[in-house]
Formats: sequence, structure tokens, C-alpha cells
Amino acid sequence: MQREQRTLSQRVGYGTTSGKVILIGEHSVVYGEPAIAIPLLGITMHARVTRGSGPAWFKSRIYDGPMSELPQPLSGIRAALDASLEQLNSDTQGLVIHIDSEVPAERGMGSSAAVAGAVVKAIHDLHDTPLTRQSLFDLVQISERIAHGKPSGLDAVTTTSQHAVHFHQGNFTDVEIRLSGYIVIADTGIKGGTRETVAAVRRRFEQQRDQVEPEIQYLGELTREAKRSIDNDDLITLGKTFNAAHETLSRLGVSSPELETLVNAARQHGALGAKLTGGGGGGCMLALCRDAQSADKVSDALYQAGAQRVWIHSFENHQAPEHLVKDTLS
Ligand code: MEV
Repeated sequence: MQREQRTLSQRVGYGTTSGKVILIGEHSVVYGEPAIAIPLLGITMHARVTRGSGPAWFKSRIYDGPMSELPQPLSGIRAALDASLEQLNSDTQGLVIHIDSEVPAERGMGSSAAVAGAVVKAIHDLHDTPLTRQSLFDLVQISERIAHGKPSGLDAVTTTSQHAVHFHQGNFTDVEIRLSGYIVIADTGIKGGTRETVAAVRRRFEQQRDQVEPEIQYLGELTREAKRSIDNDDLITLGKTFNAAHETLSRLGVSSPELETLVNAARQHGALGAKLTGGGGGGCMLALCRDAQSADKVSDALYQAGAQRVWIHSFENHQAPEHLVKDTLS
């Protein structure tokens, strides 16, 4: 049957987004400094939407029940959904939303933005209505504001992008990463809580501005340095820059004992540099490695040091998305 001939109730809308890691610039990006992040295209978030005659329903790992009783952690998704439906002159009647996620929640991998993006895309697909990158961003930001307070927009852009992103003061540009190395990403298994760490940095900023503002500006300088290293395929300098960014984020109070353990293990086993990624306070870290052999060695060391999951991302082979090396949670 031709798609146009189907009634809305027979249609299925699909939306796919992905996880992300921030290479550098987390937290300082909230204060208008630049940041660089990459989508993890091998770690996907899928939403499937149909419209039937039963009650509106939401089905995901964290909640499976009527849309009318969505729990508080999903209130941002609900707001993005409502805003999308309003633009589409539609409503939730009979909607069934099914989320299938590989993105770990609350680990600094952008899961909240990725769910919102997948739902917004699926709803538009169900209504056969195209979505510009800007309106997708705006709709995801509605959800992110509820989830995180005052998000920079970096997660909303990167989880819905196919390319690495350079983000600065609300403007985003795709960047081509011409690096020859690998990054190893490890999950501490501890929930991160971006809202809390962003609020904690804000408090420090307001109470000790003379100390905190230079740290934020320094992170901005490190991001500019990292961009130069990426453009020149200078892995050695990039590794040192990652280390300096991690030390600065630690001084800002957003590291954790588990993150420190993993960062140190990666450095001791040959990583060129290592840092936390995302909001911190738990969640994930990343390590820069020269080649596949080094990435394997570092991933083993991270696992030994207590990582719950480890992924390897190759900058060299863009056709090969990151793969999960170890998962002690499943
Ligand atoms: C969270 O993934 C990144 C932060 O910089 C917050 C933000 O950009 O909104 C910590």
C-alpha cells in the first residue's frame, strides 16, 4: 500500500538519534565558552509512534504506562511532545510511543536529549511533516530546559547530528575530525546528575567568582587549543589538553572518586590523555589513544579498574561506529 493512501492510524512514525560524548568544553559551554562534541552513531535511541483507538501510552525501560501518568523524569519529553503536536495541529489521542534505547541514562551521554529528539522526529514522521534542524533543536531544548534547568544546547545539537559539532554561544557548526586516533569511553556505573553538577558550578561561580571565572575561561582556552590539535592531527598535544581540562573540571568540583580512578588507570596504561565527559559527578570518562592496540589495552585497564561498560570509538574509520567492548551490567 502506498504511504499516502494509508490513514494516520495505520502509519508508523520512526525517529532515531544517538548518544554523544563531549570531547572538551563541558560546563564552560554553559558560560558561553566553546565546546566540541561527537555523536556516538553506534549507540542509538529509537522512537516508534503509532496512533490507535486505545489510551495514549508510553513504553520505555523506565516507564510503561498511560501517557496521562508519565512520571516526573519524563515531564520534559512530555513538554516537547505537546509542543510538537501543537505545531502539527494534533493531540495525544490514541498515541503509542515506544522507546528503544542503547544510550545509558544519566551517564553524561545525552540520553535525555536523545529521547526527546527521537520522539520529536517520530511524531513528525507519523504526520509526514518535515522537520528542520533548527526546529528539531528548539523542540528538544524545551525538554532539556525541564530536565536540566539552563542547558547550553550542546546535547540537543549533538544527539541529533550525524557529525561532530563545534558549539559556541548557541551557534553550532559541523566539524570534520581528521584525527588518526581512538577514544575509549568508560562508564563508572554511577549516575551523573547533570542538573545537580551544573547547579553546583553555578553556586561556586556566584560565591567565588574571582576564582571560578578564570577556570571557566581557561577551559575555553583549552577548547580552542583542542580544536587546533584536531585540525593538525596532533594527538600528543590533544592528550595533554584533555588532561588539563580534567584537572580544571576536578577543581570545579564535578569529578568523583570513581572518575578519578578510571582517568588515572587510563593514563597509567598508555592513554595520551583522559578526562571526564559530560556533567560529571559520576557518569563517563574518555581516554585518547594512539592506535587500536593501545585502545584495547586501555579498555582492559578501565574494566579492571571498575568500569561498568567500555566503548571504543575510532576517528580513523568513520564507517565503523563505536563498539561496546565490555558490559558488566547486562
Ligand atoms: C552536559 O552534557 C553538558 C554540560 O555542559 C551542560 C550543558 O552543556 O548544558 C555540563
